[in-house]
Amino acid sequence: MRPFVLLVASVAALGGLLFGYDTGVISGAILFITKDFALGTQMQEFTVSIVLIGCIVGSAVAGALADRYGRRRILFTAGAVFGVGALLSAFAPSIGALLAGRFIVGIAIGFSSVVAPLYISEVAPADIRGGLVSLYQFAITIGILAAYLVDYALASSAAWRWMLGFALVPALVLMSGMIVLPESPRFLFKSGNDDAARDELNRIHGGADFSAEEAAIRDSLSVKEAGFEAFAAPAVRYALFVGLGLAVLQQVTGINSVIYYGPQIFQAAGVASNVASILAEVIVGVVNVLLTLVAIFFVDAIGRKPLLYLGCSGMFISLVALAYAFSQPAHGQTLVATALGSLMVYVGSFAFSLGPIVWLLISEIFPLQVRGLGMSICTLGNWVANFVVSQFFLTSVEHLGRPLTFSIYAILCIVTIIFIAVNVPETKREVLEKIRVGTSRFNDSSGVS
Ligand code: BGC
Repeated sequence: MRPFVLLVASVAALGGLLFGYDTGVISGAILFITKDFALGTQMQEFTVSIVLIGCIVGSAVAGALADRYGRRRILFTAGAVFGVGALLSAFAPSIGALLAGRFIVGIAIGFSSVVAPLYISEVAPADIRGGLVSLYQFAITIGILAAYLVDYALASSAAWRWMLGFALVPALVLMSGMIVLPESPRFLFKSGNDDAARDELNRIHGGADFSAEEAAIRDSLSVKEAGFEAFAAPAVRYALFVGLGLAVLQQVTGINSVIYYGPQIFQAAGVASNVASILAEVIVGVVNVLLTLVAIFFVDAIGRKPLLYLGCSGMFISLVALAYAFSQPAHGQTLVATALGSLMVYVGSFAFSLGPIVWLLISEIFPLQVRGLGMSICTLGNWVANFVVSQFFLTSVEHLGRPLTFSIYAILCIVTIIFIAVNVPETKREVLEKIRVGTSRFNDSSGVS
């Protein structure tokens, strides 16, 4: 059973690899694109952020499409769209074509950021679901690291077209994988293909009894399929509040200021050369990958909430250290060391907590009838928050200064801890259909089972 499920989850996680690669790669490529197309500052910023606008559009429609056409078909489509966007960007004859290519890539990232975790959580057996969905985050971090390394390796030849075009390879693998992989059994039941659904459950459980899971899925399907009207039910609205809150808090605690602007932070701390600051960022990328493993191995044993508390506390402490270091008048070796140390602790703490567990929770907390739609809305919120934070990081550094900017992120870590304590249910080892958000009073009156 496990090797098959692992294979299914790994191929779906390729969506995450493309997500990480395509959001990370522009940080290096932009230097050369700016030169080739003689871009001014605003055009430069737009070339970086247009991918996020594509993500917003893609994630807005992905859930509805996945609920209608199936998870597998939309992931296949995401692979194809990734491929087209990568080719268009790599061969772009003009800045307009490049912007179009990056926008298309963004749409594909938006698709896969909704559907890949959704698909994995629906295929995974309950007791290893957390680990398997965390694989998706692991793939994101590998994608980011690969992008840093490719940027680093190709920087001397200024080969930005190769940097962007390279994403075609995992896109083709994702497409081929989705041709042969099974559809989610939950989606199959939902669309009336009971025999096919049972076949898939049988493959997933390796021949073991799956009647309890089938009964739980059927039970949840006995309630009418719902669209936006489902949010009239208090329990669904509350799940949306929790999911959206988590998705936004994952971003406003500052992660992408480090992922997208790390080298600039190191330079401000006193790292002299471009090469050294990119290398420092590579180290941060490695920490990001390695600490995600902690979530993969422990999220089902220890649970979601303890890891979230630990991670957010680590993020808080490192941000306070960073704010303090930047507020000191003398910038020297101590500041460089504090900056590197704090950013490693910060990214490492994010990597085993808010990084994977937010994607995991938003794939778990919605009832089946609105799972695609609910995830879409949360993911959309995540991308909008990402866009706002990364757009305003440089401005906020300029106007408020680094100490205050990092302090704001630190305060938001505390807000996140309180939000989790009050609102987030522990979902480890629970069958998806049994997961409930909020009090029983909410659920009793919801009409959604
Ligand atoms: C976040 C991304 C972030 C990445 C960093 C993901 O969970 O959604 O915005 O860039 O983690 O590893």
